[in-house]
Amino acid sequence: MKNKIIVITGGATGIGLAIIKKLINDNTVISIDRNPAKIAALKAALPKVESLKADVTSNEELSNVIASIEKSHGKIDMLINNAGKGEVFDFVKTPEKELMKRIETEMSINYFAPILLTKKALPLLQKSTEPIVVIVSSGLAYMPSNTGATYSATKSAIHFVTMCLRHQLAPLKIRVVEVLPPVVETDMSKDITGLKKMPVDKFAQLFLDKLSKGENIMNIGQTAALEKFSRFFPKAAFKMLNPRRKKSIAQN
Ligand SMILES: NC(=O)c1ccc[n+]([C@@H]2O[C@H](COP(=O)([O-])OP(=O)(O)OC[C@H]3O[C@@H](n4cnc5c(N)ncnc54)[C@H](OP(=O)(O)O)[C@@H]3O)[C@@H](O)[C@H]2O)c1
Repeated sequence: MKNKIIVITGGATGIGLAIIKKLINDNTVISIDRNPAKIAALKAALPKVESLKADVTSNEELSNVIASIEKSHGKIDMLINNAGKGEVFDFVKTPEKELMKRIETEMSINYFAPILLTKKALPLLQKSTEPIVVIVSSGLAYMPSNTGATYSATKSAIHFVTMCLRHQLAPLKIRVVEVLPPVVETDMSKDITGLKKMPVDKFAQLFLDKLSKGENIMNIGQTAALEKFSRFFPKAAFKMLNPRRKKSIAQN
């Protein structure tokens, strides 16, 4: 990919950062992040990256970002909706207010934000000759993790919407790509133990390889097996993903 205007959310860390590192030399990359310290670290590490500060859950801040990109570049060739958040789900122990706050946060970032930003970016995507929208969902879109139940639900929700976005944007010649990562070694997965984690650099390379091959649904690494297993053996897949501990949460 060369000479493209690429916009990515949450590019300051993890998967977003790994993707930026692979694209920055040959393209213009604009990263949308909310944390000033992380933005400063991103700019220090990769001065060529253009950075715009916004919280992806803020309608107003996203409008400002799109207005700014329209002014500076006039189009978007690829929008990568990558920013995401995972909360621990403990239905029994978490107080009601906190539980609902966590679910709202996950829903706002993982589900509403990609839809909202893609909607706002539509006129700029239509100015590109080969526009692409990427949604970073998760292998957990296929089968929920017990401790990440509501996170899995947000990813399942955006997975379904992405299928329909692909259908609705096809007449506009906008390619819609969904990438479903396995467990990848980033901040988000740092508390996950006992599972093999894919190195983030390897994940970014696989994503770009599949992108250039024209794949639109990218079941990367263990996600490929999870997708098949979930379809044919859903009960076994759930058990495998969520082995019973000796004590259930309710007994703790
Ligand atoms: N790592 C995995 O195992 C894995 C597996 C499946 C799917 N994914 C998905 O991959 C994507 C990238 O995650 P990652 O693993 O690279 O984790 P990460 O390093 O935590 O990256 C997530 C990024 O999103 C940003 N972000 C979160 N909320 C935001 C908001 N409201 N506004 C702007 N930016 C926000 C974070 O910045 P802040 O510091 O400001 O929060 C962070 O830079 C996510 O969508 C995640 O769900 C990851």
